[in-house]
Amino acid sequence: MTRPLSVAVAGLGTVGGGVLRLLRDNAEIVAARAGRSIAVTAVSARDRLRERSVPLAGLRWYEDPVAIAFDPGVDAVVELIGGAEGPARALVEAAIEAGKPVVTANKALIAIHGAELAAKAERHHVPLAFEAAVAGGIPVIKALREGLAGNRITWIAGILNGTCNYILTTMRERGREFAEVLGDAQKLGYAEADPSFDIDGIDAAHKLAILAALAFGRPVAFDAVHTEGIRGISALDIAYADQLGYRIKLLGIARQTEGGIEARVHPCMVPATSSVAQVEGVYNAVVAEGDFVGRIMLEGRGAGAGPTASAVVADLVDVARGRVTPVWGASSGDLSDAPSVPMEAHTGFYYLRLMVIDQPGVIADVAAVLRDHGISLESLLQRGRSPGEAVPVAIVTHDAKESAMREALDKIAALDSVLEAPTLIRIESA
Ligand code: HSE
Repeated sequence: MTRPLSVAVAGLGTVGGGVLRLLRDNAEIVAARAGRSIAVTAVSARDRLRERSVPLAGLRWYEDPVAIAFDPGVDAVVELIGGAEGPARALVEAAIEAGKPVVTANKALIAIHGAELAAKAERHHVPLAFEAAVAGGIPVIKALREGLAGNRITWIAGILNGTCNYILTTMRERGREFAEVLGDAQKLGYAEADPSFDIDGIDAAHKLAILAALAFGRPVAFDAVHTEGIRGISALDIAYADQLGYRIKLLGIARQTEGGIEARVHPCMVPATSSVAQVEGVYNAVVAEGDFVGRIMLEGRGAGAGPTASAVVADLVDVARGRVTPVWGASSGDLSDAPSVPMEAHTGFYYLRLMVIDQPGVIADVAAVLRDHGISLESLLQRGRSPGEAVPVAIVTHDAKESAMREALDKIAALDSVLEAPTLIRIESA
């Protein structure tokens, strides 16, 4: 066998520990697949004294993560620090410039700076691998870039955030409100103390931007992803969804349309019988449609030490074998320049839930606004009856244009009989 691949790991949190454990426990099988052994020889982390689940004796220790890029004994760098800026970005840039292959789990970095990092990697003929950045242990990057390389991908969608999927699943199963479930998830360590990246859809948008770039072969465009989170979803909406035959999921969806690429993250109602609706709890799933392969779906754990380490080590095996694939599947000169389609141009079916005063003429007023905007109703549900009091009303529309829907929503929200901001959830056939 050739000499071992000498690896430096920057960031020794949950995932870093997982990578070290996997490389130790599965050393033999990994070496066979890589054609040589993969040995961690250097590490960098903030706190040297912290108790860790794997022994670090004999490894070179760096306070400054960027310094590992200049260690002559290091062949490849694993970046597990996180964050789009700061030491993570500095390390990845320094390693590429030093000609060292980089493996990263950093979705924010790749989503925001992926275009320039890919160009840099190409200039320096250095692999930049990021299987762990999207959907943890699900090998979706390789599936899209290599496994489906012969296809024209038309559509890709996914449950890309386990925290949101856990919250929505628990709300449905226990009939509880968002804030209560989030609080419990934080106590159990399933949600971060500052959960906004997850629950406001930003984490899913980073991942969708990466998937869209791979699926449609164009430079990553995070700013073009329309992003909404799940804070506005109530137990009432989940109960209505159930009654209408749907489940509510936070989906990332990207589609190639005639006008360009549409990319959006928002809560969706999907048929309760669909495959995506069965993906519950912390699980992630990605569904893609290719012109020759048809529809495929991958499901698995999107986070955690084991699944993320599994993805990191798959990339290290490629590095050890010398397998190099362009970051976005094609060289930068061969990428598409398809424009992004704004969310206002989207058309689809909508669920609209209002709290209105139960009095004659209210529904007629709401229906008149929708009529004036060319929006046709499929169904209308009112729960209970309390004359003169607040009652919820749920409306499902036929195919409507987003721009018309938003204008109508503003007018509906301004009606005297509408008591709080309406909830809008898009319906997807999934
Ligand atoms: N926080 C993410 C999630 C995992 O809840 O799915 C890492 O991206």
